[in-house]
Amino acid sequence: MAVAARTPLIAGNWKMNLDHLQAVAFVQKLHWTLKDAKHESESVETAVFPPFTDIRSVQTLIDADKIPFALGAQDLSVHDSGAYTGEVSGAFLAKLDATYVIIGHSERREYHAESDAVVAAKVKAALKHGLVPVICVGETAADLEEHGASAVPVSQLEAALEGVPASADIVVAYEPVWAIGSGQAATPQQAQDVCAALRGVIAKVLGDEAAARTRILYGGSVKSANIASFMREPDVDGALVGGASLDANEFAAIIRFEKHVGV
Ligand code: 13P
Repeated sequence: MAVAARTPLIAGNWKMNLDHLQAVAFVQKLHWTLKDAKHESESVETAVFPPFTDIRSVQTLIDADKIPFALGAQDLSVHDSGAYTGEVSGAFLAKLDATYVIIGHSERREYHAESDAVVAAKVKAALKHGLVPVICVGETAADLEEHGASAVPVSQLEAALEGVPASADIVVAYEPVWAIGSGQAATPQQAQDVCAALRGVIAKVLGDEAAARTRILYGGSVKSANIASFMREPDVDGALVGGASLDANEFAAIIRFEKHVGV
């Protein structure tokens, strides 16, 4: 397959960390750290995924100071509006200039019993409201032992893409559950193998053009010391970063992966 020019995406999933005051201070610090390092923001896209309660504050800051970061949410409702206490509509996120929304993170699949069907419905809800879904897939340690690395992520992605139009703008994140927060990242080769299989799913379901332009991220214990090795792989187009995205210096170093040599 011809290699399309896919802009790398480095995405920080804050999970349930940083209140709105901390969020503002953090985004300012990250911005200035990258500016001081003369980072070229066009070469690598940076996105932050704060908790819902922070989004308005971060949006206002990004807008006022013209900070070149995209904004995303960590989840959305399958519904547009109505009697769904505690839920947040994609329409509201779009109004806040959110570009992305994470869907099907393993923590939601595990702690909130999100099935493949719920994930697929959320992908449709995101697209309906003009948000780019960041579709998370990944195998547990038990899945890895039983089925190998690719089987579960492949079937999760097939389910998530059901009914999605070929022209849809999506991002896929491969996050092996055993690598999340464990300090034990996948090897670059493992990440490449699964990301290549996931690109094959996109090609099969949405076509070659979609497969060539869709970014596939690796996530799970990414840090500045290992990011360059993942980014060297042809089918890894970026990273979804948890813990290391909460430290402005460390996250800036991850965003600046192009400067790391010999890692
Ligand atoms: P860590 O980077 O903390 O392993 O988390 C990865 C993750 O779950 C990002 O969504």
